[in-house]
Amino acid sequence: VAPLRVGIAGLGTVGAEVVRLIEEQSRTLTERSGRGVRVVAVTARSKAKKRSLDLRGIDWAKSPLDLANDPNVDCFVELMGGSGEPALSAIEAALKAGKSVVTANKALIAKHGVRLAKAAEKHGGALNYEAAVGAAIPVIKTLREGLAGTGVNRVYGILNGTCNYILTRMEQEGLSFAECLKDAQRLGYAEANPSFDVDGHDTAQKLAILASLAFGTKVAQSAVYVEGISSIAPEDLRAAEELGYRVKLLGVAVRTAKGIEQRVHPTMVPKSSSIAQVMGVTNAVTIDGEGIPAITLVGPGAGGAATASAVVADIADVARGIRAKPFGRPVERLRDTTKAPMERH
Ligand code: HSE
Repeated sequence: VAPLRVGIAGLGTVGAEVVRLIEEQSRTLTERSGRGVRVVAVTARSKAKKRSLDLRGIDWAKSPLDLANDPNVDCFVELMGGSGEPALSAIEAALKAGKSVVTANKALIAKHGVRLAKAAEKHGGALNYEAAVGAAIPVIKTLREGLAGTGVNRVYGILNGTCNYILTRMEQEGLSFAECLKDAQRLGYAEANPSFDVDGHDTAQKLAILASLAFGTKVAQSAVYVEGISSIAPEDLRAAEELGYRVKLLGVAVRTAKGIEQRVHPTMVPKSSSIAQVMGVTNAVTIDGEGIPAITLVGPGAGGAATASAVVADIADVARGIRAKPFGRPVERLRDTTKAPMERH
């Protein structure tokens, strides 16, 4: 079988790591997918930028759209980020050409997931986005395939590595919010605009994706109530600690009599609870199913290596010929998300 020809748009922390990992894991990938996987073309904002990557023998496309339309590319991998252009048009073009797409872009999936899933279903390509939530943790697959036979009642957890890293260091070392955020940026955990992390929007995007998979609703970030951590000070964490609690930024999606409630806000959790033990950049997702309470997945939730690992797994699925429905059901079966954002009093 001819190798799967991969085109990668975006060579930042994650993109560079994906190129490296495909090269390093080449034999294992071939064994596992029954087919070779080769990066044939790339594109990024700056061609001149110094990168410690060997790109010899790999084409350089002029734009993401050119790469998506390149007839030599079977699988278009979008690692540019951003909830709109140029990622949206490029992904749509690739799908319309019948290619498969792999992306780590939660903002885009949370905003345009339904539209893109429709294109994927119509033209027969895959739209894989495991890296969009929980980085290396296979949470999309768990909800979409692993729990396909289970009714989910609640899914919740720590979905933003940057916030958990900041809260952990503020609590343990008494450092200021700003100092911890700077370190999270330096370590490559934070979004290009870190307000997405600390104001809770990144968590909301991830939660909206998980809720769609868990409850069969149309992914809609606008249905999520959001409150971030930027006004939390070390003293607040100390006060919580004296009462026996830790503060965590949680995303919670729950089935209620009135519909699916989705919310993101800092939450006091008892220090003895398992979620309170999740420290640093780690993410944790707990799923409560019918008769199956509390399946918890814990692991590295941000950073180049963790995110690249999920991207490469998604590429391996494409190589294997797996074409899962992006949201686990045909798009036309997804229900509208009726619940308005929760008001807090
Ligand atoms: N900025 C995100 C986080 C990256 O800190 O969790 C992973 O999605």
